[in-house]
Amino acid sequence: MNKKITIAIDGYSSTGKSTIAKQLANKLGYVYVDSGAMYRAITLFSMNNGYISKCKFDIPSLIENLGNAFLKFIYNPKLGFSEMYLNDVNVENEIRKLEVSNLVSKIAEIPEVRKKLVGIQKEMGKNKGVVMDGRDIGTVVFRDAELKIFMTSSPETRAKRRYDEFVEKGEQVRYKDVYDNVLDRDRVDISRKHSPLIKAVDAIEINNSDLTKEQQFQIILNLVEEKLRNV
Ligand code: DC
Repeated sequence: MNKKITIAIDGYSSTGKSTIAKQLANKLGYVYVDSGAMYRAITLFSMNNGYISKCKFDIPSLIENLGNAFLKFIYNPKLGFSEMYLNDVNVENEIRKLEVSNLVSKIAEIPEVRKKLVGIQKEMGKNKGVVMDGRDIGTVVFRDAELKIFMTSSPETRAKRRYDEFVEKGEQVRYKDVYDNVLDRDRVDISRKHSPLIKAVDAIEINNSDLTKEQQFQIILNLVEEKLRNV
C-alpha cells in the first residue's frame, strides 16, 4: 500500500465532493485540495477590490491585478483539513457565503483565472498522493489520474444539503435562493467555453441521491483499493 495515486473528483455543485474527498484523504494519508475554494478566494479578492459586484464586472482590472492574489492552504489539525488563505488571511468561512457563491461562476469562466489556478493545482499534485475535487480535475488538471469519480445527485437533494449547511452555520438564507443558485451554477459550469464541467470518459459516475455518507465512502474506498492493487 506504499504506492500513491491521484484521485480526481468532479461533479455538480453540492454533490458532496468535498465530503468524500476529505474522508478519502484522511483514510489514505493523502493531501486534500478543494479547487473550488481557490475559485471562491479569487472571487472574494475581486469583490474586496471592487472588480466584481452584482451590477459591475471589471474583468481587465481583475486580470491586471491577479498577480496580487496569493493563495495558500494551511492544514488545520482540529478540523482535519486545510483552510484557504488569501494574502495570509484565513477566508475559509467568508468564501462559503452565498454572496460569493452567486458570483463565483463568472470568475471561473475567465481563462486567465483558470490558467493561474490550474498551474497551482498541477504543482500541488505533482508527487501524487492527492485527492482533488472540482469541475475539471479529471479532464484538465490531472488527465492521467488513476481514479476519476464523477458525482451526481438530484438538484433538490443538493439544494437541501447546502441549505442545511447554511442553517447549521446560523446563516439566514431562503431555500429558494439556494436552489436557484445550485441550478444557476450547474448551467454556467456545463455551458462555459473554457473547461466546462463534463464527465471524463474514464470517470466512474456515482449518483449519491439515495446513499448515506457511509455507503458512499465504502463504495468509493473499494474503488480506490482496487486501483491500488493494480498500480
Ligand atoms: O466546488 P465549489 O462549489 O466550491 O466551486 C465553486 C465554483 O468554482 C463552482 O461554481 C465552479 C467553479 N469551479 C470550477 O470552475 N472549477 C473547479 N475545478 C472548481 C470549481
